[in-house]
Amino acid sequence: MNTVDLIRRKRDGGTLTREEWGSLIDSFTDGKLPEYQMSAFLMACYFRGMSREEMLTFADRMLHSGVVLDLSDIPGYKVDKHSTGGVGDKVSLILAPIAAACGVAVPMISGRGLGHTGGTLDKLESIPGFRTSLTIAEYKEVLRSVGAVLIGQTTEIAPADKKMYALRDVTATVECIPLIAGSIMSKKLAEGSDALVLDIKTGRGAFMKEFGKALELGKALVEIGESAGKRTIGYVTDMSQPLGSHIGNWLEVVESVMCLRTTDGKYGLSTDVMDLTLLQAGTMVMLSGKARTVEEGMTLCKATLADGTAYTKFLDIVRAQGGSVASIERLDAHPPATHQIAVSAFRDGFVQSIDAMECGLVSILLGAGRTKMEDRIDPVSGIVLHRKRGMSVRKGDPLATAYTNDPSVIPEAASRLGKAFVVGPRPPQPVPLVKARIDSHGVKLIGSRSNVTGKRPASIRKRRAKPTKKRNQRSRK
Ligand code: URA
Repeated sequence: MNTVDLIRRKRDGGTLTREEWGSLIDSFTDGKLPEYQMSAFLMACYFRGMSREEMLTFADRMLHSGVVLDLSDIPGYKVDKHSTGGVGDKVSLILAPIAAACGVAVPMISGRGLGHTGGTLDKLESIPGFRTSLTIAEYKEVLRSVGAVLIGQTTEIAPADKKMYALRDVTATVECIPLIAGSIMSKKLAEGSDALVLDIKTGRGAFMKEFGKALELGKALVEIGESAGKRTIGYVTDMSQPLGSHIGNWLEVVESVMCLRTTDGKYGLSTDVMDLTLLQAGTMVMLSGKARTVEEGMTLCKATLADGTAYTKFLDIVRAQGGSVASIERLDAHPPATHQIAVSAFRDGFVQSIDAMECGLVSILLGAGRTKMEDRIDPVSGIVLHRKRGMSVRKGDPLATAYTNDPSVIPEAASRLGKAFVVGPRPPQPVPLVKARIDSHGVKLIGSRSNVTGKRPASIRKRRAKPTKKRNQRSRK
C-alpha cells in the first residue's frame, strides 16, 4: 500500500477498496501509519465524503480493530439505546431499568461528557461507589443476573476509533457524517446487542444543529446497523432546549430517580424526558418481540413505573455495580453544592426559548462538565430549571437555580444563565419533540405539535395570552 496514493485518491474524489481501508486502519492502529498522514487522509474524507460501500467498510474495519463481544450465552434478546448527546439527556438512566423490567436484556456501553453535552458514565459515577469500568466477565455477569449493565468503553473495544477520534478532535475533522457514523457504530456494534435504538439530537444543544444533517446522520447510522444484521431504529429528536429540568451529574441522577419513583404518570417539568424515554424503551420492547407495536411496548413500560418494578430494577443495577443504594433511597442526605444562585424573570410573559447550548456551557463553568478529557468534574454542580419553553412567568418568578462549589464563577454563570432564557409576550409556537423516525423502510417525518403525545404544555392551554388590539381590529374587518 502506498499511503500517499491513497490520500491523493481520496483528495481527488476517488474511492478506496475494502483491502485498502483495512490496511490503512490497521496500520494506523498499530502505530505504523504516522498521524500526519492519517490527518491528511481524514481531511480528504471531510471534503470528499465516502461512497455508501466505503462507509460500511469503514465502520466494519473500525469495529473489527478490537474485540466484538459475544453475548449469545446470556439468555434474552439484547437491545441497547444510544444518543448522539445533549444537555440534560438522562434518558439512558431511566430507560435501562424500565426496559430490563420488561424483560429486555440491556447491554449498554456509554461515554463521558465532553464539551457542552453530558455523559452517562459521569452521571452514574456521581452515585457513591458506582463502578463503570467492569471487566468483560463482570459485564456479562451483571447483564445475566440483573438484566441491564452500563459501562464505559474498554481498551479492547474499537481501539482504532479511540485513536482516530482523538486525532479528529485536534484536526477539525469531527464534523463529517460517514466518519461520525462509523465511529459511533463501531462501538455500538461491538457490545454484543441484537438490536439498537438511536436518538439523533438536533437543535442548538446538539452536535448536529440542522435537522437535515441530523437526518443524514440518522440514515447513515441505521444503514450501518442494518447492514451488520442488527435491527436498528432511529429517532431524530429536539435538543433546542435542555431535556427535563436538571442538568449536571448528580442532579440528573436525582431527576431520573424521581421519574422512576413516579407511579401516576405525572412528570411535571420532566414530561419531555419521560415522553422520549417511554418512546425509546417501548421501541426496545417491540424490537425484543415482547410487544407487537411500539405503543404496546410503551404500555408495558408504563406498567413497570406504575408498579415500582422499574425503580427496583434501578436499585438492582446500582447494587450490582457497587453503588450505594442508600444514597438513592435517601436523595436528600447527599450533600449539595455549597453555593446556589437563583435566576429570575425580568418581565411577565411566556418562555420563548431556553438555549440548550448555553445551559450546557454554563454547566461546565459551574463545574459539571469538561473541556478536555483530563478535566475533573464536580458531581453536584449544575442547573435546575423551574420553567420550560411555553410556560408562563411573572416578573421576579424563578427561572432556574445554578449549583456550584466554586464561588468565583457565580457572577458570570448567573448573567449567562439569565440570558439563556428568552421571555416574550405571547406563547411560542410549539416545537415537536420527535421530528422523524428512521428504520430499514426509510424515513417517516413526524409533525406532532409539541411532543410525542401531541398535547400543548398545560401552562399554554390554561393561560392563552389575551388578544392584542391589533388582532381584534383585524378580526373585525
Ligand atoms: N461520537 C462518537 O463516538 N464519534 C464521533 O465521531 C462523534 C461523536
